[in-house]
Amino acid sequence: MNRLQHKVAVITGGNSGIGFATAQLFIAEGAQVIITGRNKESVDKAVAELGQSAKGIVSDTGSMKDIKQLQAQVAAIHPAIDIIFLNAGVAKFSPIENADEAFFDEQFDINVKGSYFTVQQLLPLLKEGSSIVLNTSINAHIGMANAAIYAASKAAQLTLIRNLSAEFLSKKIRVNAVSPGPVTTPLYGKLGLSEEQLSATASGILSSIPVGRFGTPEEIAKTVLFLASDDSTFLLGAELIADGGMSTL
Ligand SMILES: NC(=O)c1ccc[n+]([C@@H]2O[C@H](COP(=O)([O-])OP(=O)(O)OC[C@H]3O[C@@H](n4cnc5c(N)ncnc54)[C@H](OP(=O)(O)O)[C@@H]3O)[C@@H](O)[C@H]2O)c1
Repeated sequence: MNRLQHKVAVITGGNSGIGFATAQLFIAEGAQVIITGRNKESVDKAVAELGQSAKGIVSDTGSMKDIKQLQAQVAAIHPAIDIIFLNAGVAKFSPIENADEAFFDEQFDINVKGSYFTVQQLLPLLKEGSSIVLNTSINAHIGMANAAIYAASKAAQLTLIRNLSAEFLSKKIRVNAVSPGPVTTPLYGKLGLSEEQLSATASGILSSIPVGRFGTPEEIAKTVLFLASDDSTFLLGAELIADGGMSTL
């Protein structure tokens, strides 16, 4: 299939999980891909696995200094781009009693501020007809203990898709979102939970997924491909929920 033939995509946080699976699928569909990530070693490893159609940039979505360098770094590889998948994100769970300002700021800085200013900086490189996809979360719609700040950051991302779609109408740039339910990725090991808490959280989550399993990164990548490609040209400010029925059944 060549649904992304001659397209250039930037995928933030493309060195792991959903971002990496999406990079693989985009390349299989003919795209040139630039992935970002914070860690040079994992970015280099991912680029080596992805092959010649991939390039990597070490860039921290939580750092304005890094974001302001991104336009020049991307332009040095490809002068124009067609797709941005704003996937870089962190999830940290904590009871409110233990949360501090740094806990709050980290998630809003990376998930919300980072997404917004990445779009601002890459906007001059986006061609007419481009597609921006945000990786939000089913947590924006449901109540889950200890997940309030992560959920609020994802809900804020959802407001970006509608408002930026309105703002970019004249540029013919579409902004949409995929909201995954639980997906098997390294994210769960980074929640800040002990092994025991993680195991209890995972069982609780599993019992709330009607299809009886976590999703795979590849299943989310296919949804992102639809939103990124010209198959979805009538979708603006739309959210596709891919959650195994968690929020609806
Ligand atoms: N897995 C799920 O169940 C699930 C459900 C709903 C939504 N999501 C969303 O999906 C997205 C991807 O998560 P994932 O599940 O694929 O987990 P993951 O494997 O941990 O991937 C997250 C990616 O984001 C990168 N990242 C984090 N902070 C960054 C920063 N400041 N600058 C640049 N890159 C950064 C990570 O790189 P590092 O290696 O540097 O940390 C990693 O490549 C996240 O936005 C997450 O909220 C996941």
